[in-house]
Amino acid sequence: MAGNPTAERGAMVRARELALRGPRGVNPQVGAVILSPDGRVLGEGWHRGAGTPHAEVDALSRLRPDEARGATAVVTLEPCNHTGRTGPCAAALLDAGISRVVFACADPGDVSSGGADRLRAGGVDVDRLDEAEGEAIIADWLFVQRTGRPRVTVKWAQSLDGRAAAADGTSQWITGPEARAHVHRERSAHDAIAVGTGTVLADDPQLTARVDGTPDAPQPVPVVFGTRAIPADAAIRRHPRGHRTASHDLERELFGLAADGLQSLYVEGGPTLASAFIGAGLADRLTIYLAPTLLGGPRTVLDDIGVSTIDEQRRLTVTRLEQLGRDLLVEATTEKEH
Ligand SMILES: NC(=O)c1ccc[n+]([C@@H]2O[C@H](COP(=O)([O-])OP(=O)(O)OC[C@H]3O[C@@H](n4cnc5c(N)ncnc54)[C@H](OP(=O)(O)O)[C@@H]3O)[C@@H](O)[C@H]2O)c1
Repeated sequence: MAGNPTAERGAMVRARELALRGPRGVNPQVGAVILSPDGRVLGEGWHRGAGTPHAEVDALSRLRPDEARGATAVVTLEPCNHTGRTGPCAAALLDAGISRVVFACADPGDVSSGGADRLRAGGVDVDRLDEAEGEAIIADWLFVQRTGRPRVTVKWAQSLDGRAAAADGTSQWITGPEARAHVHRERSAHDAIAVGTGTVLADDPQLTARVDGTPDAPQPVPVVFGTRAIPADAAIRRHPRGHRTASHDLERELFGLAADGLQSLYVEGGPTLASAFIGAGLADRLTIYLAPTLLGGPRTVLDDIGVSTIDEQRRLTVTRLEQLGRDLLVEATTEKEH
């Protein structure tokens, strides 16, 4: 059965918008639209977080009894086949009499996948609308499913001669306003933000995302790595999302963040923590702001990252190069398989 391609594509765009109304957390953001056989929207739904109905079930609940018979469900993620805190969506769609299901992204979960097969076995026509956007909205969640940890971006600002700070440790500000505005957008796009105690003690950062100069944007949860005490009057103590502290065991800490639904981490400093993440192979993406200035001295952007001979160098792939005011942004990914 071919369905109604125009109505289904439109419904998928709408389902993506609905998905983004849901919170980022341990469960994926999912949206669903139910279409009548002639392509009218009968109901819409989205997932509001762990323990609440899944998007398909939420959309079905908006319909009158029996209205779903012969209808099409358009969903951003393959309906689950798993009984957790809620029942399997594949079964709910079958029970409601849905005759066609269109989804964008396959469910990668070991226990939750298989919904499409179950629907097909129940006589439902199932199609996958292969679209990159459907995957993009849950890219970080998919990363967590694959690796068990958040996706990590390591950021630093440096002088052209590769220094993160002047000899006395002062580093605010190496870069100009355009680069700093970009950093605030990046902070807002991540679930959590990490610094070491060295940066807290040297710079007393607020670690808020001040997009357009205001703190209205979504705020990342600050995480301070290290054993030294955070001063009682440190600015981070006034962060709107509180703060977490973390040990030197980076991998274990990352698993803990993912378990709490934090899917992406922005590592903001300084050289010790950045080197530890890179050295441990836990940096997925680098964002480096190059300022046209020279600082000289001992404060290099990285120290030991486990490279003792040239064969061990950490090769990068540059994914973006952009001028921001007088500074340059270089984005790169590390070359490894996940
Ligand atoms: N240019 C930039 O982008 C930038 C950004 C941030 C900071 N900075 C500058 O960097 C300087 C501070 O440098 P920093 O290297 O001391 O700061 P840092 O990397 O933020 O903090 C270092 C601390 O992190 C803790 N830590 C936690 N887990 C660790 C692990 N697995 N391995 C190693 N350390 C771990 C340790 O704390 P404990 O000793 O408490 O255990 C360590 O002393 C300041 O001058 C600041 O202005 C520059």
